[in-house]
Amino acid sequence: MKNWQANFYESILDTKLQKYIADFSKLIEQFETNTHSKETTKWQKQLAKLPKVEEIELTINEIVSLQPKHSIEHLDENEHRKTKAVLKNFMPWRKGPYNFFSVEIDTEWRSNIKWERVLPHLPSLKNKRVLDVGCGSGYHLFRMHQSGAKQVIGIDPTTLFFYQFMCFKQYLSKHNLHFLPIGIEHMPETHCFDCVFSMGVLYHRPDPIKFLKELKAQLVPNGHLILETLVVDGDSTTVLVPTDRYAKMRNVWFIPSVDALTLWLQRVGFKSIECVDIDVTDINEQRATEWMQTQSLIDFLDPNDSSKTIEGYPAPKRAIFIANI
Ligand SMILES: C[S@@+](CC[C@H](N)C(=O)[O-])C[C@H]1O[C@@H](n2cnc3c(N)ncnc32)[C@H](O)[C@@H]1O
Repeated sequence: MKNWQANFYESILDTKLQKYIADFSKLIEQFETNTHSKETTKWQKQLAKLPKVEEIELTINEIVSLQPKHSIEHLDENEHRKTKAVLKNFMPWRKGPYNFFSVEIDTEWRSNIKWERVLPHLPSLKNKRVLDVGCGSGYHLFRMHQSGAKQVIGIDPTTLFFYQFMCFKQYLSKHNLHFLPIGIEHMPETHCFDCVFSMGVLYHRPDPIKFLKELKAQLVPNGHLILETLVVDGDSTTVLVPTDRYAKMRNVWFIPSVDALTLWLQRVGFKSIECVDIDVTDINEQRATEWMQTQSLIDFLDPNDSSKTIEGYPAPKRAIFIANI
């Protein structure tokens, strides 16, 4: 068993999640042995090339930063160059920013900006068990950890994002921070989390009502859902279903209005539903960088009218909802 798995199982012993160990181990085994087995070997080799360091300092603010604790272990110029080259093999880096042993990973998204929008509206995370569904590279997991959560677990089925997180996690066995490479639809219904976050995922799900039920099934009674998603203007009957791509993204199914999503949440059984923030995404938050060199937001918008996507739909506008059960 790999270290990260042992570290996760150990962290849930004597907690309410313990009874799901068999479910988790089956799901992780599927990830390791089935579709991703070739990739697993490839990524393991890359991870092994990252620096060997005795003790680590994790600093979390706008930039999530990892440094050797003792200055004697700081990378020299040659090690820095090698480390940067290894990290480049994990491109595209979409969610961040990170500083990895002084290598600055300037990701496509300045995910700190989303966190700054979410943070003022959050219930206290102190001593809470938190789940982040669709956590990407795990940037927000660190921010939840910084807010005092006793345990933070992210789930995401994208192999690359799992291994981006592992670049950090292999140094962080003492931190109660975990990433499981699974989709929400495969999670057992744990009812174990005080807070469930899901940011930027709802519109990728072909059955959004089922998705909301799956999120609800992870919450303890009175637990909080923090849901962030694309929205369009309109009333409770307005939902955009793109004919094909939306802002060049495949896999965009339903973009509801704030009122429509409020209704969906009500129908699924959430209470105290509040839309706490609405924001139009700009090119300060999402842009191509050295670490994500293909197209980004600026290429997804109509060059003559930035209020529209290249396909003629309303440009990306995102809302944050807080609700409880
Ligand atoms: C737009 S990204 C959002 C990442 C991050 N939460 C954020 O807000 O910056 C959407 C993420 O959802 C993940 N995802 C897609 N299908 C999923 C599923 N069925 N269960 C969990 N995550 C999923 C993708 O792999 C991707 O990392």
